[in-house]
Amino acid sequence: MDTKILIKTIDRLTKSPKGILAIDESTKTCNSRFEKLGVPTTEEKRREYRELLVTAKNIEKYISGYILFDETIRQSTKDGKSFTSILKSKKIEIGIKVDKGTIDFGNIPGDKITEGLDGLSERLDEYKKMGATFAKWRGVFNIGEKTPTEEDMKTNAEVFSKYAKVCQEHDIVPIVEPEELIDGNHSIEQCYEVSAKNLKIVFSALKSAEVFIPGIILKTSMVIAGTDSQKQSTPEEVAEATIKCLKENVPDEIGAIVFLSGGQEDEEATLNLNAMKKLGKLPWPLTFSYGRAIQNPALQSWAKNPADFLTAQKLLVEAAKANNLANKGKYKK
Ligand code: 13P
Repeated sequence: MDTKILIKTIDRLTKSPKGILAIDESTKTCNSRFEKLGVPTTEEKRREYRELLVTAKNIEKYISGYILFDETIRQSTKDGKSFTSILKSKKIEIGIKVDKGTIDFGNIPGDKITEGLDGLSERLDEYKKMGATFAKWRGVFNIGEKTPTEEDMKTNAEVFSKYAKVCQEHDIVPIVEPEELIDGNHSIEQCYEVSAKNLKIVFSALKSAEVFIPGIILKTSMVIAGTDSQKQSTPEEVAEATIKCLKENVPDEIGAIVFLSGGQEDEEATLNLNAMKKLGKLPWPLTFSYGRAIQNPALQSWAKNPADFLTAQKLLVEAAKANNLANKGKYKK
């Protein structure tokens, strides 16, 4: 492991006010989003859509890294340029989702464990040759009456640690992503409690496994009420609870923290980040790593009008720019 390489990659990824764009939806997730919009669920359509995202002009002004999926890192534009060569030419870091999704865990419905450690080292060798400098592994946690169980959080934390170790041995920055799902009727206080406990467990496991903490990025959900909760959270409430939770449970020496949007309304994710940045100086670099909150307007436009790449790309760049403003606490509704 070369710690300098890891730290430099994180510096490039979090150079303020830029952030990361996640376009690493699995084939299943991508297809289900396409289906809802009446887009054919073929490999060619997924390639075409990802071409739109990768070739958007000037996106590099606002985005420092793209997280790709295995299918996407191997794809090329219609006229034969590999997506990776395009990203490299824009000096955008190449990231890769390396987990293989979740399966049920234990006896309590709702608990999940993430798979994908088998063959991880060999896959990372290949992705590194393709230019990947960072990776992502997502664990999901349902907030319910009985979930997530401590057993589930501890088992996922062990898996996160093994994944992070293998990445760092390859000089690839691991994004460790424990996501508390926004689905459900839980309150912001319940979300806080689960997030705090989970972060404690994750960092205790990472430290025991001797993962180099300044060489990882935490990708986290915000502390926020569930989508079905009667009391929805304001940006100020989300900002205060999230920053408190992170300050209390994440080591100051962490490389960086980034957020997923997790099904929040597009602008809500931007407003929440903006409110956090208004709270003043933080111990770690903090930025966004959104998927849906940046892609949504572009995807909808392209689904309606597939021949019009330019309008969709303009919407993509606008959304990325809005989140750059939020990163400076300067976004206005
Ligand atoms: P969303 O912002 O759509 O939640 O996607 C980010 C991500 O990478 C989820 O794993």
